[in-house]
Amino acid sequence: MNFKGRDVISIKDFSKDEILHILKVAEKMVPIARSDEKSKMLDGYIMASLFFEPSTRTRLSFEAAMKRLGGNVIGFAQPGTTSIQKGETLADTIRTAESYCDVIVMRHPKEGSARMAAEFAEVPIINGGDGAGHHPTQCLLDLFTIWKEKGKIEGKKVALLGDLKYGRTVHSLAYALALFGVDMVFISPPELQMPKEVVEECKEMGVNIEVKSTLEDIGDIDVLYVTRIQKERFPDPEEYKKVAGSYRIDLHTLKNVKEDMIIMHPLPRVDEISPDVDATKHAAYFRQTFNGVPVRMALLALVLGVVK
Ligand code: NCD
Repeated sequence: MNFKGRDVISIKDFSKDEILHILKVAEKMVPIARSDEKSKMLDGYIMASLFFEPSTRTRLSFEAAMKRLGGNVIGFAQPGTTSIQKGETLADTIRTAESYCDVIVMRHPKEGSARMAAEFAEVPIINGGDGAGHHPTQCLLDLFTIWKEKGKIEGKKVALLGDLKYGRTVHSLAYALALFGVDMVFISPPELQMPKEVVEECKEMGVNIEVKSTLEDIGDIDVLYVTRIQKERFPDPEEYKKVAGSYRIDLHTLKNVKEDMIIMHPLPRVDEISPDVDATKHAAYFRQTFNGVPVRMALLALVLGVVK
């Protein structure tokens, strides 16, 4: 297995064995991510962090990952302060950034932008989210979370709830869970259903998929993965208003769930999980947030060829 120099654009670019390898490397990174151990593993390396879209967790955890491994970070989170403002193309911005660094992490509102950037760049490109397209590193930290919390991924039953139409995290995760043979329930308002091609692809991979529009009957679910409605991706704000606030997890929802059912959420949440759920044993979303650091450490060390 060789990750050196590889781009991380879509989870589909990785085999199940490669994904498991990344998770195992991530596991070894946990003490460093917690600052219990210090590391100089990426001393002398520079990561460029190019964020053309808002981000809290993806950007901060990538930067923390790089710095915890002794590496350096350059970049921007406000493209309005760069030459993009003057009309520079993405291709030229990428060519410039790559001459200053060893790896680029980017987030961009346009689907396909990370793949395009990878065509221009010699250094590895890591996709931190391209529009409603892919979010492979979130997917890896989601898999890592299920693996750590549940002991294994295979054989679990997972419900994906919320904006399955525009949510990139669930597009990546549905594919990856199907790769692990996980049966899924897709629960969303009818307007925000999982794209047909994703449903078909998962079915073709041999897993059972149920499509629902209400939160009832979740008593056999092991993982409830909640997402926010992606307001910024609605072409028509009126359409957003129709679905806003249409589902919410609260203590009442949790009455008939499995004792050890976990709730995950890529965050940010808006109003889809009531804050009083945070104190229940089901809430795994802040542990999930932490997991972004060891998983991104693993990816950086692997694509830079410092770890095999
Ligand atoms: C997600 C994203 O950006 O796609 N956030 C994240 O990376 N943790 C989810 C979202 O914005 O709803």
